[in-house]
Amino acid sequence: METIRTIAWMKEASRKARGEGRIVGLVPTMGALHEGHLSLVRRAQQECSPVTVSIFVNPTQFGPKEDLAKYPRTWEADLQKLEALGVDSVFAPEPSEIYPGGFRTTVHVEGLSERLEGRSRPGHFRGVSTVVLKLLEIVQPHMAYFGRKDAQQARILQQMAADLNLDSEIIVCPIVREPDGLALSSRNAYLKPEERRAAAVLHRALDAARTEMAAGARDALQVQTVMRRVLDAEPLASTDYAELVDAETLEPVTRISRPCYALLAVFFGGTRLLDNMLITPQESGELRFDL
Ligand code: PAF
Repeated sequence: METIRTIAWMKEASRKARGEGRIVGLVPTMGALHEGHLSLVRRAQQECSPVTVSIFVNPTQFGPKEDLAKYPRTWEADLQKLEALGVDSVFAPEPSEIYPGGFRTTVHVEGLSERLEGRSRPGHFRGVSTVVLKLLEIVQPHMAYFGRKDAQQARILQQMAADLNLDSEIIVCPIVREPDGLALSSRNAYLKPEERRAAAVLHRALDAARTEMAAGARDALQVQTVMRRVLDAEPLASTDYAELVDAETLEPVTRISRPCYALLAVFFGGTRLLDNMLITPQESGELRFDL
């Protein structure tokens, strides 16, 4: 497994692979790798060779009061995990390589970026879209893999890829969960033991919403009220939002008649966690739930 530090070297490696007719895959990460990331790598390896994993803690997607300095960095452990999976290369540039002095250009996906996470974290998605576009330009993958836990991010990146006619396909992969249902996230490492126990409420809230809809509920407010009730019953949880939104526009829905997401953002102490469920109406009138 090669560790590639420079843009020139990464571009050259990808150019060579593409020239040989190979299918290039990219898994963009900020390190602190867990089973969720590794599931993306495995999926990429089924469809692509070579597979590059980028590890870059992107400063521009952190707000001034956010956790850039203390974001978990587990370089040695990350490399071991990727080596064990047989990843071809790790692209790990310095911040100055990605953002040299004089850097001025950013990408903003209008409308989808302002709501939900964007309201709580102004500028966050501008940082994400910009760095992902740069990574796609540098690695030139046929396919790039992202987790559905960050559903809004995935939707924004798909829109960016379509709007800018990018050659890379954005592939969104299922959420990986702990046995109690907590979605894997690098930020779970911040949770104190009692917060970690409490965080299982995210999955319980989605599960309660699923039960309500499986019993016939189609009114979004009714389903949101059920999620709120479950979240409010957990004293260590402080809900930022618990919404049902259209899966394409991310606008609030009143009735569940098209694909939509139940999206949660909840604080446990200073740690803000996300979770979601994709709800897809079937021809039979029943709903399909992807948790
Ligand atoms: O989801 C993440 O880890 C990051 O937002 C990403 C896509 C690697 C961009 O920095």
